[in-house]
Amino acid sequence: MVSRRLQIFAITLMLFFCCRTLAQVKGNLVDDKGHFVNAHGAGVLYHNGTYYLFGEIKKGETWLVQGQQWEDYRVPAGGVSCYSSKDLKHWKYEGVALAPTKGDTSKDIDTSRVIERPKVIYNAKTKEYVMWMHVDKKDYSYSQSGVAISYKPAGPYRYLRSVKPNGNMARDMTVFQDDDGKAYLIYSSEQNKTMQVCLLSDDYLAPTKTFSRILIDRNREAPALFKSGGKYYLITSSCTGWSPNAATYAVADSPLGPYKEYGNPCQGPGAETTFEAQSTFVLPLKGKPGNFIFMADRWNKLDLPKSDYLWLPLKVDDGKVTVDGY
Ligand code: DGJ
Repeated sequence: MVSRRLQIFAITLMLFFCCRTLAQVKGNLVDDKGHFVNAHGAGVLYHNGTYYLFGEIKKGETWLVQGQQWEDYRVPAGGVSCYSSKDLKHWKYEGVALAPTKGDTSKDIDTSRVIERPKVIYNAKTKEYVMWMHVDKKDYSYSQSGVAISYKPAGPYRYLRSVKPNGNMARDMTVFQDDDGKAYLIYSSEQNKTMQVCLLSDDYLAPTKTFSRILIDRNREAPALFKSGGKYYLITSSCTGWSPNAATYAVADSPLGPYKEYGNPCQGPGAETTFEAQSTFVLPLKGKPGNFIFMADRWNKLDLPKSDYLWLPLKVDDGKVTVDGY
């Protein structure tokens, strides 16, 4: 009897720790080769039973761009990496999904420039995997969204072009694919003062004329949009460069808004700095409605390749979003 109880206790303990590892990451993730996962500002594509993680490759020396009003720390744009996983715990390195170009500073994805926050969605009509990303000059004056495609989820991706959606600036961004197959680009615009949401064309390769201005004059960035119980939730950060600040969330009945703003979803010690991190993506947990993984970056501005990650359970309960730091 005692040993049966012990057995049950041991199994419960094991399950508890397995679930914790699955849902929580603070620090670095390690891939199948024993290397730290190099995928910052990441997003996840779930496709045919596999999770594909895409993110910025940050390697090389960090330097400070002179003459800026803010701490513009940079590393060479290393392109976009891809990792795959069946269980969100074990990550296989798939390689460089989008390679940067070298030696021509006029090219969007040259190593001398900025490639940030890549996000991939699959277009079932064209059978193409479409990657959107923020491309910029090192002083962030270019402010465009770049697009690349591939016929295989892990790439390699072919860079097509960049755009200013409807003539508007586009910096920090994400992409959201709705259940009806429509996809949207969400980006910090208008000198980061206001965000915009733009419906993408049916092939996901271009912005349409349908767009809305949201979180007007709120100075938000790092958008992560997700859907729960038929509502659309948008987590964002404030604009403080690489330094962490408090996240907030907003809720709407349509991806285009209007959005009603709420406070900080984070709870527990460190909530006022999003636990020293900045949002990048919210991943739905399959078969667990209302349960998500909040994915964020813990930037190390003086040595950007040493930035790591924070993944925490996120819950939506009766319309209220919580990210529990405990
Ligand atoms: C905050 C943004 O969210 C990051 O993606 C990056 O652009 C840094 N600012 C640059 O300071």
